[in-house]
Amino acid sequence: MSHALYEAAKAAMANAYAPYSKFPVGAAIRTEDGRIFAGCNIEVASYPEGWCAETTALGHYIMGGGGKIAEIAVIAARMPRVTPCGGCRQRLAEFAEPATRVYLCDDAGIVETVTIADLLPYGFQGEILK
Ligand code: THU
Repeated sequence: MSHALYEAAKAAMANAYAPYSKFPVGAAIRTEDGRIFAGCNIEVASYPEGWCAETTALGHYIMGGGGKIAEIAVIAARMPRVTPCGGCRQRLAEFAEPATRVYLCDDAGIVETVTIADLLPYGFQGEILK
């Protein structure tokens, strides 16, 4: 994992708006050409309206022009090995490849490295809809 990717995920976590769960999360996406897009979770008093760090990062990635994703990092202050939720697995799979590495991190660095395929086996594929 590039150090910049880890630092971006960690810095994003510091921006989390999580007054309800008090569970800050940071995520970062690095494209093959070296751009990094980060995001934090953002909660809302009407709880289901909040969204995850990975989703914020994907929004930045799309607005930044997208491109081939090389690697992804996720970190949560209160969990040693946070894993993306089901919805975020589907969202990440939309833009990454099955073999794209996802680093599950803690305060010291990588705890475990998995792939998008590991996270979302038998995920719904949208090809037929295009
Ligand atoms: N959360 C994320 O941001 N990413 C995940 O992968 C898991 C959960 C957030 C959503 C909510 O703000 C808080 O963590 C507790 O569920």
